[in-house]
Amino acid sequence: MDLMEYQAKELFAKHGVATTLGVVVDSAEAAKAAAEELGGVTVIKAQVKAGGRGKAGGVKIAKTPEDAFEHATNILDLTIKDLPVNRVLVTPATPPVEEYYFSFLLDRSNRQYLCIASVEGGVEIEEVAKTNPDAVKQIGIDPGKGVDEAKAREIATECGFPEPVFEQAVAMIQSLYTVFTEEDATLVEVNPLARLEGDKLEALDGKVSLDDNASEIRHEDHESFVIRDEEDPLEAKAKDKGLNYVKLDGQVGIIGNGAGLVMSTLDVVAYAGEAHGGVKPANFLDIGGGANAQVMADGLDVILNDEQVKSVFVNVFGGITACDEVAKGIVGALDILGNEATKPLIVRLDGNNVDLGRQILSEANHPLVTIVDTMDGGADKAAELANA
Ligand SMILES: Nc1ncnc2c1ncn2[C@@H]1O[C@H](COP(=O)(O)OP(=O)(O)OP(=O)(O)O)[C@@H](O)[C@H]1O
Ligand SMILES: [Mg+2]
Repeated sequence: MDLMEYQAKELFAKHGVATTLGVVVDSAEAAKAAAEELGGVTVIKAQVKAGGRGKAGGVKIAKTPEDAFEHATNILDLTIKDLPVNRVLVTPATPPVEEYYFSFLLDRSNRQYLCIASVEGGVEIEEVAKTNPDAVKQIGIDPGKGVDEAKAREIATECGFPEPVFEQAVAMIQSLYTVFTEEDATLVEVNPLARLEGDKLEALDGKVSLDDNASEIRHEDHESFVIRDEEDPLEAKAKDKGLNYVKLDGQVGIIGNGAGLVMSTLDVVAYAGEAHGGVKPANFLDIGGGANAQVMADGLDVILNDEQVKSVFVNVFGGITACDEVAKGIVGALDILGNEATKPLIVRLDGNNVDLGRQILSEANHPLVTIVDTMDGGADKAAELANA
């Protein structure tokens, strides 16, 4: 789960990272009231789970509460990278003297953590990485050893934090590492990490991604970061039903069992789609091992409610749950859904009890269902029907 800036800052504050929380509001009136209460110059910041908010006009300085009202009105009207802005953060303006970049992330390919940091500030870190790659330091961290004070010093030295803020940087690096590990994050990013007037170091922005696998068991409090109205309604529905679903942009709905099979199904559908007007997969949906009627019905229910979906490709490999169970699941799901099922279903079954599975589907003879023998054949048929 990705957090909003204001949520990331809450976690920063909890673990002793210097930051200013500000006030989150969802209307221009409330932004004005917050600016009045804070007093002085404030910054109005769009809260969306996307980068580049400043460039998109989503970060504005407000000299007066009236300014705050006007900026909040405009920012709440924005859509940044397809995300409507529903909330703004009102926070005291603390002009940065220098801007740095700092992050911890999970480095899967090297099985370690990685610190990426640069004192050649701030917003345009991708640009710095291109034009002056030496200024962006990458420091590997052994998860078994972590970041103690000595390691934090090593990082701060390697990055070249200037002397007046060096000790603060050492402390902040340790606190950010605590956020990263204690909260089971896969990313903790501060951009800008700002040197303010009076040589005070502060996190002016924050991006945190939490590991959902850990959240469910180890961090019940992370549930409170879920913002219902910010979630894709279909993704939310799938999550409620315990399905592993990701919405994509295409037209062919995909259901499979096992992430590997679903991923390769996405590939073959994308490939087949090139011959059929460029149709693409509409989603990732892994129904996992137990593909019974209810799970199948839940999956189909989610996919068929996606208006972009024109056809559905069910690609299942029968293992512990054999193909006859899956076939019964599909027949049962179509019964449960009744008239709500309106789009063609291409079904490819293979594996345990495949003959029995196909027989059950043939006998049910549902007008929407086409049985295919191979994965490539199924992808081609699904793409063709999506393009019809
Ligand atoms: N509290 C603040 N006071 C003064 N200036 C600020 C404050 N917060 C942010 N800024 C300025 O606005 C710039 C952009 O802010 P911020 O980093 O939060 O958004 P962004 O980087 O554009 O968005 P994103 O991080 O989503 O790409 C900062 O680099 C900083 O110069
Ligand atoms: Mg930023």
